[in-house]
Amino acid sequence: MFHAERFVEKSISILQSEIQGKALIAFSGGVDSTVCAALVNKAVGDQLIAVHVNTGYMRKDEPEQVKQLMRTLGLNYRYINASTEYYQALTGVEDPEKKRKIIGEKFIRIFESVGRKEDIHYLVQGTIAPDWIESGGGLRDTIKSHHNVGGLPKDMKLTLVEPLRDLYKDEVRKVARVLKIPVAERQPFPGPGLAIRIIGEATPERTKVVREACDIVEKEIEHAAAKGLMELPWQYFAVLIPIKTVGVHGDKRAYGNTIAIRAVQSVDAMTCHYSTVPHEVLDTISTKITNTLKKKVNRIVYDVTNKPPGTVEWE
Ligand code: XMP
Repeated sequence: MFHAERFVEKSISILQSEIQGKALIAFSGGVDSTVCAALVNKAVGDQLIAVHVNTGYMRKDEPEQVKQLMRTLGLNYRYINASTEYYQALTGVEDPEKKRKIIGEKFIRIFESVGRKEDIHYLVQGTIAPDWIESGGGLRDTIKSHHNVGGLPKDMKLTLVEPLRDLYKDEVRKVARVLKIPVAERQPFPGPGLAIRIIGEATPERTKVVREACDIVEKEIEHAAAKGLMELPWQYFAVLIPIKTVGVHGDKRAYGNTIAIRAVQSVDAMTCHYSTVPHEVLDTISTKITNTLKKKVNRIVYDVTNKPPGTVEWE
């Protein structure tokens, strides 16, 4: 049985002996990095610097919300807008593993540069068990390189500190409740962000489309769950499939992309079952997406794949 209070106590004393000097945390605003930041902040105080990198693949209004969260938690923080750099690095890249590795490496290079400027030698990451299990190595197959594990460059200069490494998501949420973290119940969002929710090249133009679609899916599903129409899924989002199909808008021919809606129930992300979303909710989402993204999207599909054989994200 996992005991969250005991975990917090033990981690603080381990962190105090592990971190000798300044440390930097890769802060995304998700449950894992927020729990990790709160824990390390308890252990070493302002010696911890939270760094939030805006990759350009964040959800709607997310960078502002993350800054606000870092302030609420009383963290010593830096905000870096690196979107142009990320878009350039991913130009022409279609392979999901290449995307993940480029994004992972870029994160580290940015952290190393902050580290050099501010004399920081430790990098704290909110890595959890499924991240390294799925990233392979040793006896395991690589399912996908999670940006914070398989995406790490071999010549990284910072020393890694990963206090949540052996925890599963449900356990991280228990720790979050003990630490009274405001994002304890938030759905997960992958480090590579919307880039892995765009099949093929993650251009700024395509990112705008998937960002808008993701926002509609999130809002409509949360609204439906609040009204008691359905259970809130564990994770729910949109994926852009840049395959064009023929449609009709009014009396005009349309030729646009496809959006897939993904909503799943899971406990620890190692397996998942697709959620049953009422047809009226799917209907509203479909109409809103096609109305908002007229000329760009004219077909909406619902993903009914479990994990296995699918994974939660499409890439
Ligand atoms: P998959 O797609 O592997 O996703 O079934 C399992 C859970 O992990 C999230 N995910 C990631 N999280 N970095 C992260 O921080 C990553 O590279 C990454 N890839 C997937 C995914 O959103 C789901 O919750």
